[in-house]
Amino acid sequence: MAGIDYSERIPNNVGLADNRRLQRALEEWQPKFIEWWMEMGPNGFQAKETYLRTAVSVDAQGWAQFDYVRMPEYRWGLFLAEPEPGRTIGFGDHLGAPAWQDVPGEHRGVLRRLIVTQGDTEPASVEQQRHLGLTCPSLYDLRNLFQINVEEGRHLWAMVYLLDAYFGRDGREESEALLQRRSGDRDKPRILGAFNERTPDWLSYLMFTYFTDRDGKYQLASLAESGFDPLSRTCRFMLTEEAHHLFVGETGIGRVVQRTCELMREHKTDDVRRFGGIDLATIQRYINFHYSVSLDLFGSEISTNAANFYTMGLKGRFEESKKRDDHRLKDATYGVVELEGERITTREAPALPSLNERLRDDYIADCQRGLDRWNQVIKKYEIGHELKLPHRGFHRAIGLCAEVKVSPDGRVISEAEWDAKKHEWLPSEADEQYVQSLMQAVTQIGRFANWIAPPARGVNGRPVDFEYVRLA
Ligand SMILES: [Fe+2]
Ligand SMILES: [Fe+2]
Repeated sequence: MAGIDYSERIPNNVGLADNRRLQRALEEWQPKFIEWWMEMGPNGFQAKETYLRTAVSVDAQGWAQFDYVRMPEYRWGLFLAEPEPGRTIGFGDHLGAPAWQDVPGEHRGVLRRLIVTQGDTEPASVEQQRHLGLTCPSLYDLRNLFQINVEEGRHLWAMVYLLDAYFGRDGREESEALLQRRSGDRDKPRILGAFNERTPDWLSYLMFTYFTDRDGKYQLASLAESGFDPLSRTCRFMLTEEAHHLFVGETGIGRVVQRTCELMREHKTDDVRRFGGIDLATIQRYINFHYSVSLDLFGSEISTNAANFYTMGLKGRFEESKKRDDHRLKDATYGVVELEGERITTREAPALPSLNERLRDDYIADCQRGLDRWNQVIKKYEIGHELKLPHRGFHRAIGLCAEVKVSPDGRVISEAEWDAKKHEWLPSEADEQYVQSLMQAVTQIGRFANWIAPPARGVNGRPVDFEYVRLA
């Protein structure tokens, strides 16, 4: 069961051959997916052979195999984590009941919406990043970009499988719509705001994979707790793939920081722009931007939807099963952000409607770990500078803090102060133009753009100077 059947048109470990109706629906969807991929997938490299990993099993150990593939020939398929025998629902009103193997009728609409919203982000990110290959800083980075892109495509497959297998005609319509919406399109945009912005350059892309893909990790992890077992198993395997996306972001920004420090040391200056680097102040502004827009993705501090998803047993907390409490939370409280005049404080609120805030807290703690590692790099070069996460209220568009202006250190400030300072805190047009000016493709084997250090090691034991993408 852990093995994946590659003799089929759609590789899978869900016994697709035994379900003719579903097989037919997905085989009809497949060419439309390829059409979408050719139109909206990575621009300019569809015919090139890339050294990519493909899932061959869903075992956590050794699940992937690496080889050269042209992206349109990538074997996208349906892979679910192994079922846990006797799994029960771990939280909410149905606590302790056997996990659902089919959609519980009363939660059908809500569940479909959850799956569609998650599914929509997957193709959206491919669309946002489609032009980046043309300005890659190295073949190694180009390969990582494409790896992420094909896997986001596979995540779309994962959600479409759930829709087609469990939601009948409505599900098939949603599957079609997932291929019809377009990131940034005024008439048919992607569902979530952050997924309608173009990813303009590689610094933004690395920030996206660190901060925004990490939101994905937390959403998937809470859906992996779901009482709807097929969703849980799908998300568990997606998390295995997602780990690489986060790795690309964390090591990628770490390499930018490293290169900046090298240039600072070499030329004894903070102003590394003169030497083609990205100064730490600019890196900080990009962190401020991407972190704050990613915080918005968790939604409002107080949310009845979040409470309902939990009570219904559809979406749990991060690491729900490891928590030692009653897993119902009817009488529990949780500390949420509160505005007290000029001050931002916290207050105890009922725990159920505060679940977005709790997930955001888990996310924030996780984000800080990367910052600590980047600061280690800076320290190693004996530079007295620290990168920081801005205050959670900074530059928010959703939730309580969207009503006020907040400085990175957490003070509620006037509009006038905000206007005077915002260019110190967020990327300015000049920053964006400068970063854009660095975006020149470097495609010689083993070479790297001047603004980013080479990685510590290559992919799958290959050397750093390996031909990760065959461009010739
Ligand atoms: Fe994904
Ligand atoms: Fe991802």
